[in-house]
Amino acid sequence: MVLQQTHADSTLAFLMEGYRFGQRRFDRFEADAFRTRIALRPATLMRGPSAARFFYSDDNFTRAGAMPPTTKRLLQDEGSVQSLDGHHHRHRKTLFLPLADVTSVETARELLRDEWRRAVTLWSTRPNVVLMDELPLVFTRVACRWAGIDVPAARVESLADELSSMIHYAGSTGPGMWAALARRRATEQWAAELISEVRRGTITPLPQSMLERIADFVDADGERLDLDVAAVELINVLRPTVAVARFVVWAAWALAHAPQWRQRVVASDEVSRAVAQEVRRFAPFFPAVAGRATRTLEWQGHTFEEGAWVLLDIFATNRDPSVWARPDSFDPGRFMGDEPDPNALIPQGAGDVADGHRCPGEDATVALLDEAIRLLERDTDYSVPHQDLGVRMTRMPAAPRSGMVICDVMPVAADARRPA
Ligand code: HEM
Repeated sequence: MVLQQTHADSTLAFLMEGYRFGQRRFDRFEADAFRTRIALRPATLMRGPSAARFFYSDDNFTRAGAMPPTTKRLLQDEGSVQSLDGHHHRHRKTLFLPLADVTSVETARELLRDEWRRAVTLWSTRPNVVLMDELPLVFTRVACRWAGIDVPAARVESLADELSSMIHYAGSTGPGMWAALARRRATEQWAAELISEVRRGTITPLPQSMLERIADFVDADGERLDLDVAAVELINVLRPTVAVARFVVWAAWALAHAPQWRQRVVASDEVSRAVAQEVRRFAPFFPAVAGRATRTLEWQGHTFEEGAWVLLDIFATNRDPSVWARPDSFDPGRFMGDEPDPNALIPQGAGDVADGHRCPGEDATVALLDEAIRLLERDTDYSVPHQDLGVRMTRMPAAPRSGMVICDVMPVAADARRPA
């Protein structure tokens, strides 16, 4: 198969079209892959379940040299599980797999219920609440308690700010990104100090908490993780848990546009979960994952030479018209009933979680998002004031312009709560 190629370097088009860049060209070329150049570098963009399976199978692609260095530094970073390949990757990945255990996921839900109720009591004293600003605090508290970290109240706000700016500026250049990198150094020092204290025995974390597991983990070479790598992996649990707050913002935004689903969430757990899945499909979050071919590869008659740079378009896969009817419409009904194809719904990667780079926090993300949607609609009274709910699709990650404001917030009295 000969892939279509865009005429020139696409950097400008990519910057001007943002999330829609790939989607428009896949549709125009009527193909699930095309070749282009981004920042003068030859690249192949791919979408769809077959591309996702290929990208995530058989160690076909390494993340080494595939991402802009500052994005990598703000997200997974040097020495992290994501930077590893083959046997070393699979061994390190076992550190994260217990995050998906049923008890771990249920604990995360309970912590969110607890922190949400505290937050709503505070929000009820204010004229309005900007969810983009407030939810990272709630999720930072949840993330720390879930990981077994006792974080002093005075540190929570700065930590929330550091963790959320890693996410907010991951796709940016300029002063905001440099400030986020500087803030990250403070998080790394704090995380390294925590690990050292656990190793010295001056802190005793909860047994089997991620703090204890990371401090004690023996890597594939038979050694404990270097202190800086252990700190990176601890941040790789905290930062993405705080990232779930962004999905909750999108959930509130989507429900403001489709209020009929607010009523239905109150009535049924199946519906709240379907809304959570549709938010993960619909929200513009990770635009793509990037990899380099580890050897010469064949896919649908197309050859990728070793080292070829490939971008799996997450946004366009989650809106692939051959999989999803009316892909640009928010419709949780599509998730009522069968579980989605794991290579079609890929906001957190594709393939197998133990064997490849698929996100180990996916089950917890779905559960936390589902729980937050229930808390918002069943346990919280609120209104949505007039505001700019527009979205700039060229900013990555995107967010509603207003930050998603709610007002008249009140906790629903315990005896008035309507369990599904
Ligand atoms: C907003 C929610 C989240 C999103 C959008 C997200 C997205 C992703 C994506 C796209 C990948 C695949 C990267 C690749 O293929 O190179 C990934 C990997 C990863 N995620 Fe998540 N994630 C989320 C939540 C979480 C949570 C809650 C945790 C842990 C508590 C987590 C920990 C990780 C780790 C450690 C990896 C690296 C896995 C590997 O390389 O094998 N993520 N995530």
